[in-house]
Amino acid sequence: MGYEHEPVMVGEVLEHLRPERGGTFLDGTAGGGGHAVEILERGGEAAEVVCLDLDPDAIDAARERLAGYGRRARLKQADFRDAPEILETLDIHELSGALLDLGVSSHQLNTTARGFSFRPGTPLVMRMGGTTGGRGPAADFLNRAPIKELGRVFREFGEERRWRALAREVVRRREKRPFVSSDDLVAAIRTVLGPSVSPRDKARLFQAVRIQTNSELEALSSALPRIRDLLAEQGRLVVIAYHSLEDRIVKRAFRDWSRSCVCPPKLPVCRCRGRPLGRVLTPRPVTASEAEIAGNPRARSAKLRAWERSDRS
Ligand SMILES: C[S@@+](CC[C@H](N)C(=O)[O-])C[C@H]1O[C@@H](n2cnc3c(N)ncnc32)[C@H](O)[C@@H]1O
Repeated sequence: MGYEHEPVMVGEVLEHLRPERGGTFLDGTAGGGGHAVEILERGGEAAEVVCLDLDPDAIDAARERLAGYGRRARLKQADFRDAPEILETLDIHELSGALLDLGVSSHQLNTTARGFSFRPGTPLVMRMGGTTGGRGPAADFLNRAPIKELGRVFREFGEERRWRALAREVVRRREKRPFVSSDDLVAAIRTVLGPSVSPRDKARLFQAVRIQTNSELEALSSALPRIRDLLAEQGRLVVIAYHSLEDRIVKRAFRDWSRSCVCPPKLPVCRCRGRPLGRVLTPRPVTASEAEIAGNPRARSAKLRAWERSDRS
């Protein structure tokens, strides 16, 4: 099966990343290389891209797509959290820019065996890295997590009002038969939300389980400052988030890095350098145009934020 994924907000990514400045760019979520190819095209000979993705299918697809760029495109199956160590092995110590296009690819969603979708008969897998990484398949979480933990995930990540009832329903069902496929989770959701539950609600609750399965918020929180520290003066970090909690993490990180004083509020005198690390380039998140959303529904929930480093001169 080919790799399908339509990159979102390509124009907006290029506008904020400005690959025409040249240098090394990190694409931490390369997918099929959709954004990477555009960065290389816009950047010309002066730009190179290091592509990371947890998903081996993505790296294979991106490798094929970027083959014509020779050493200007280097690829590795890896977690973007490990970007500093990986760049070190490539003898790269500074980045002109970095991109994180979070969430799942259309390829992952459309490949039944990867187990991300709520379509009937889909195994509950949901691991970004395929057979490895994360906390084990999604079914493990549903079959083993304490009721409190199930409730927290449905409430926090799924923003589900009836989170208590859903957690109870999962436990009631798994005592009779373990969760194996999407049908089991859909049945539990139907019992609680009603038989005519919308695809949007199913997607929201499956996404909550996916976020938990891959520790996605922890990965993002720990990666952001690590990637920031790799940026050169005027280096830019662009993040596209598809979930409000992801977007909040990005928004807060960019805001905190841009404050002139980062001392704890209780400290009577400023002990930090009193200089911001950089500046927010997007006071409000950038969203996709109606035309793009019409052609690519994934773009509907995308929120792009960008930040520029400016403490190194
Ligand atoms: C929305 S897709 C990216 C699509 C890509 N921009 C393109 O143009 O094809 C998100 C990708 O991020 C990858 N991913 C998710 N979490 C990751 C992590 N912690 N480290 C590396 N890749 C990750 C997924 O495997 C998926 O391929």
